[in-house]
Amino acid sequence: MTKPILLNAFAMNTLTHQSPGLWRHPRDRSREFNRLPIWLELAKLWERGLFDGVFLADVLGPYDVYGGNADGAVRSGAQLPTNDPMMLIPAMAAVTQNLGFGVTVSLSYEPPYLMARRLSTLDHLTDGRVGWNIVTSYLDSAARALGQPRQRAHDDRYAIAEDYMTAIYKLWEQSWEEGAVVADPVRGYGDPSRVHVVRHSSEHLSMEALHLCEPSPQRTPMLYQAGSSPPGQAFAARHAECVFVSGPSAAVIGPRVAKLRAALVAAGRRPDSIKVFALATVVVAPTTAQAREKLADYRDYVDHEGALVLMGGWMGVDFAGYAFDQKIRFIENDAGRAAMENFTRGDPGREWTVREVAEHVAIGGAGPVFVGSPSDVAETMQAWIKETDVDGFNLAYALLPESFEDAVNLLVPELQSRGLYKTAYAPGTLRDKLFGEGPLLADPHPAATARRLSHSAAAAVVSDPVAV
Ligand SMILES: Cc1cc2nc3c(=O)[nH]c(=O)nc-3n(C[C@H](O)[C@H](O)[C@H](O)COP(=O)(O)O)c2cc1C
Repeated sequence: MTKPILLNAFAMNTLTHQSPGLWRHPRDRSREFNRLPIWLELAKLWERGLFDGVFLADVLGPYDVYGGNADGAVRSGAQLPTNDPMMLIPAMAAVTQNLGFGVTVSLSYEPPYLMARRLSTLDHLTDGRVGWNIVTSYLDSAARALGQPRQRAHDDRYAIAEDYMTAIYKLWEQSWEEGAVVADPVRGYGDPSRVHVVRHSSEHLSMEALHLCEPSPQRTPMLYQAGSSPPGQAFAARHAECVFVSGPSAAVIGPRVAKLRAALVAAGRRPDSIKVFALATVVVAPTTAQAREKLADYRDYVDHEGALVLMGGWMGVDFAGYAFDQKIRFIENDAGRAAMENFTRGDPGREWTVREVAEHVAIGGAGPVFVGSPSDVAETMQAWIKETDVDGFNLAYALLPESFEDAVNLLVPELQSRGLYKTAYAPGTLRDKLFGEGPLLADPHPAATARRLSHSAAAAVVSDPVAV
């Protein structure tokens, strides 16, 4: 088989993830998001389609850039209301054996100590199927809700994230040495000489802690990242194992992936040591004509205001003040840089008006829509992989669960018949399944370096007076 195509489902514990207005379609079941049955159904469906994982997005504040308030978000339900994504994972894990769970958690508002415990708990409960999408947030509304006047400057967020990772690796990789859990009725449960208090002191973080969880199957969960600005890519090149990219065309995505692979080499890692997933929405039906009809039907339900609400949040631009036919130009601000690049200088050959962007993002967000028969879509995917060097796709949905049902029932068998998609999961943890090189991070990743570091230098044993 040529390099297999990887597939992720992209979802969020909310009414409207990336297809504003489509919750009103008679076949859409997004309104069930507050209850478990739909999530259990989806988890089983994704696993039947041998999806590598589900990527759960999250935001910690409303999209209130559009019009200067959250009214548009409230009216359209654009990522509001939005529930905690982590809570879904144990339930979905209980009805699956192989599906991975990449959960978005922002490091801007929570100390590493608490983050490490919650993710270790999930890694235990899922038998090592958890991944962390490391984000620093992009909405000022979240910063204000969490006691800060505004979010920190774009590049500072990445500098703090770097420091945060150093601290959290200490908890996951150093606090409990290999062999620390003895579980012997005579010797006791743990061996105090192998359990350490770890310390971290920097401008932004101060911690003296013993990690509350014993080592989970992956220790450090699989690490995902989705920023594409230069500091975002430098961060990914040091830490990420999977990267999510999103842009409207292969012309935008190809150079971004090339820069990321080059950044990996500069960071001393292999260029293939990150799996890159491009956002895409698949509208597939038995024939090309039926698929096009389906897409036209979806478009009848689009809520343009909802689309501008989302765009405003991603780009940090209030589109309420723009005429619909106005062209979009690059503006530097503290929201997402890649989101702005996508529709401005990312493809110098293509200019976008506000209307065009609203129409584009209203079906599944900033990624392309692949529409057609299973064979059309399979060919488009192959062409995209060739042109961009991505490893797979992060599938957004137009209708829930219809878009995923179509992908699993129509597209997956087509990809399999072309030898482009797995026919069974690989065994082991999420990291084993995606990389086949063991459950733990290996050199030269900084988590592996942290594991190797001498505990005497970095930490004190529990019985030290300092640790009591
Ligand atoms: C496909 C994709 C999904 C993302 N999902 C989230 C998310 O759920 N929550 C979040 O706070 N940021 C999310 N982001 C934003 C990124 O983490 C990052 O903050 C943003 O792309 C800005 O970074 P940059 O300026 O380095 O590109 C996502 C980005 C992409 C491309």
